[in-house]
Amino acid sequence: MNKYFKGLMIEPTNICNLRCPICITGNGLNGAPKGTMKFSHFKVIIDQVKNFLENILLWGWGEPFLAPDIMKMIDYADKNDILTTIHTNGTVLNKKMMGQFKKNYRLNISFSIDGITQKSYAYYRKGGNLKKVFKNLSYLVNLKEKYNLFNLRIIWQFLIMKTNEHAILKAQKLAESIGVDKFLLKTIGIAKTHHRYDDFIPANKKLRRERRGEKKQTNQNCSFIKPGRPVVSWQGDIYPCCQDFWGEYKMGNAFEDKLLDIWNSKKYADFRENYIKGVNALCNNQCHLDKKNIYINY
Ligand SMILES: C[S@@+](CC[C@H](N)C(=O)[O-])C[C@H]1O[C@@H](n2cnc3c(N)ncnc32)[C@H](O)[C@@H]1O
Ligand code: SF4
Repeated sequence: MNKYFKGLMIEPTNICNLRCPICITGNGLNGAPKGTMKFSHFKVIIDQVKNFLENILLWGWGEPFLAPDIMKMIDYADKNDILTTIHTNGTVLNKKMMGQFKKNYRLNISFSIDGITQKSYAYYRKGGNLKKVFKNLSYLVNLKEKYNLFNLRIIWQFLIMKTNEHAILKAQKLAESIGVDKFLLKTIGIAKTHHRYDDFIPANKKLRRERRGEKKQTNQNCSFIKPGRPVVSWQGDIYPCCQDFWGEYKMGNAFEDKLLDIWNSKKYADFRENYIKGVNALCNNQCHLDKKNIYINY
């Protein structure tokens, strides 16, 4: 069993300005207390593990750029040679924040833009202003070009649903003309039993996540387990997986105990062991996440 992990998923905040209907924060079902991680707490976490940590995923159930200390977090990770990946709805970025990217951070930044007209975009990104998001995206692409920011990777992620599946090729062309590094198509995660399933599931079955059947996670390739990626909430609580929506598998708290001790605790080790054996209730029964199902080529 691996004594170390290589990645961390850290939630800067679980507050959001949008109301996406199939997100537990957007639809108000997220029962966790609302709040934001302070830089001092972020530093406590990173300092414990920076000698072996390779990368962080810097988002959770909220909009990371609403966290007042987010730019300090990105800066600190970079100073410690840690690759950061961040997902944003792109609505609250501003020139001052983006100006800091001139430091050529090792950063993947993914903009969630699921439409090319305000109407189809706001069908999911409720409260979002598409014009503003495109303005921010283009500004960053130009900044990258102007200052040769070769470490910065800009991604446009397009969540496929019923109302935008017809516009995929147009969006792809637009992404090329804006000059992003990658246009990524993501399948929507929505339970078949969800009362709004028919409102969102694409008509084209090939564009659905479950198109590969109800395959269970038994192939031992989950990065949360191996090479390992504990999930840290804004409050420091540690979970073994981003799919533990309701916080049922809390492993400890990184502000109270050492992260590595939590990772190597019997509870956490048993969780990983059970996954490898194929008897972990969360991973092997509920989770159908597989990179091949999530991101697709068109
Ligand atoms: C919960 S969001 C947090 C980051 C940020 N607020 C955003 O939306 O990009 C994390 C990722 O989940 C994606 N997402 C939101 N709703 C989704 C859904 N129903 N199925 C799959 N991915 C979803 C977002 O586009 C984003 O890439
Ligand atoms: S913008 Fe991101 S965090 Fe906010 S409601 Fe939408 S998916 Fe959820």
